[in-house]
Amino acid sequence: MAFVVLDNCIKCKYTDCVAVCPVDAFFEGPNFLAIDPAICIDCALCEPECSANAIVQEEKVPAAQQGFIQLNAELAQLWPNIREVKAAPTDADKWNGIPDKLAYLET
Ligand code: SF4
Ligand code: F3S
Repeated sequence: MAFVVLDNCIKCKYTDCVAVCPVDAFFEGPNFLAIDPAICIDCALCEPECSANAIVQEEKVPAAQQGFIQLNAELAQLWPNIREVKAAPTDADKWNGIPDKLAYLET
């Protein structure tokens, strides 16, 4: 079992999640972070840190976002590891809460 980054991270990418992960399970793309399920130890520390509420345990992923389980696993293999918080996009707050941002995902 692992935690999964969902749609609302796209274009928000606050990165507060990476500061608390004890195993450095986050990988960084241009406007989204992915968790490697092979590294995640299911500790739940990152979930409350995300002000976009974009992280949930795999078994709690909503039906409409089931594709993000596989997407996290795949993107984590492509992207570099991220261990330190960095500035969010300047318009992150504007995008926080806007549904169905998958079309904006940059890989
Ligand atoms: Fe890291 Fe724990 Fe979040 Fe998994 S649940 S990504 S181990 S902080
Ligand atoms: Fe994304 Fe939330 Fe982390 S917006 S980068 S999952 S703090």
